[in-house]
Amino acid sequence: MNVDKGYVDQPVPSGIDLKAEILKLKEEKGVVIMAHYYQYGEIQDLADYVGDSLALAQKAAEVDARTIVVCGVHFMGETAKILSPDKKVLVPDLNAGCSLADSCQAEEFEKFVKEHPDHTVISYANTSAAVKALTDIVVTSGNARKIVESFPKDAKLIFGPDRNLGNYINSVTGRDMLLWDGACHVHEKFSLEKILELKKEHPHAEVLVHPECQRQVRMVADVIGSTAVLLSHAQKSEAKEFIVATESGILHKMRQTCKDKTFIPAPPNDSTCACNDCSYMKLNTLEKLYNTLKYEAPEIVVDESIIDRARRPITAMLERSK
Ligand code: 13P
Ligand code: SF4
Repeated sequence: MNVDKGYVDQPVPSGIDLKAEILKLKEEKGVVIMAHYYQYGEIQDLADYVGDSLALAQKAAEVDARTIVVCGVHFMGETAKILSPDKKVLVPDLNAGCSLADSCQAEEFEKFVKEHPDHTVISYANTSAAVKALTDIVVTSGNARKIVESFPKDAKLIFGPDRNLGNYINSVTGRDMLLWDGACHVHEKFSLEKILELKKEHPHAEVLVHPECQRQVRMVADVIGSTAVLLSHAQKSEAKEFIVATESGILHKMRQTCKDKTFIPAPPNDSTCACNDCSYMKLNTLEKLYNTLKYEAPEIVVDESIIDRARRPITAMLERSK
């Protein structure tokens, strides 16, 4: 099957019930579908597992299937492949990259690491397999604090690539980790002014913020956490309104599981649009998912020489997250 464009470029038969056909193909082929909370709601609803990047990595390590479809971005597919190299790992559109992962190229990161030879290297999951191979332990936004705190107070640590998450973890753990200067183009875009305006209109709303957001946005947060932490807080909280500063895909699960509550997306600073979407995450569509299941392509391929080196820090993370 030709996947030169990064996805299967075949027309979907007209008039079919796409959702029903996807479920049928999934069953027939014994494929497991995993979806991140930033995927379109219709994709989340068809998945066997929906979660944050930590939960998806944990599932990828234990799932019993010959083929996994990761509806997320490229690094999430790579993590699944590294943890299950014997399985076929598919992503509906291989162009689903990540601006944060792109902000940390392996050659430059290697130079940075070599300049600080006495440091332990901690990398965020939002990195390429090649960067993970240069890393001692991987973290996600769901376990970064716990893992950093598991090192002695005076440990010399490098943290990459997200400067906002790194600054946040430094501030809550009292560490002084050396930070790589990378960022996510989606989370850096939230506008403090627009959040404060929303807060005036909804004074009782709680502000939920992902740690990849800039410090001034984190300062007005009631809760800071990974997508899974924000979702579970919304489910447990007594509050009835929430202003949500993370990618807008998470609102689907929030609204689905908290029918009596109102979720207001925090707007970005550069447009009149109310929501803040990750254009990479949204490359995966129902049509591409259908073709991925039908043709079992495109497949994530990770260089054998990198797989072993990248598996060690991911497994270390999974061990310390138990
Ligand atoms: P989570 O760790 O909350 O899944 O976030 C992943 C991500 O890509 C954030 O932008
Ligand atoms: Fe990467 Fe940001 Fe998209 Fe997450 S939201 S996948 S960090 S670009």
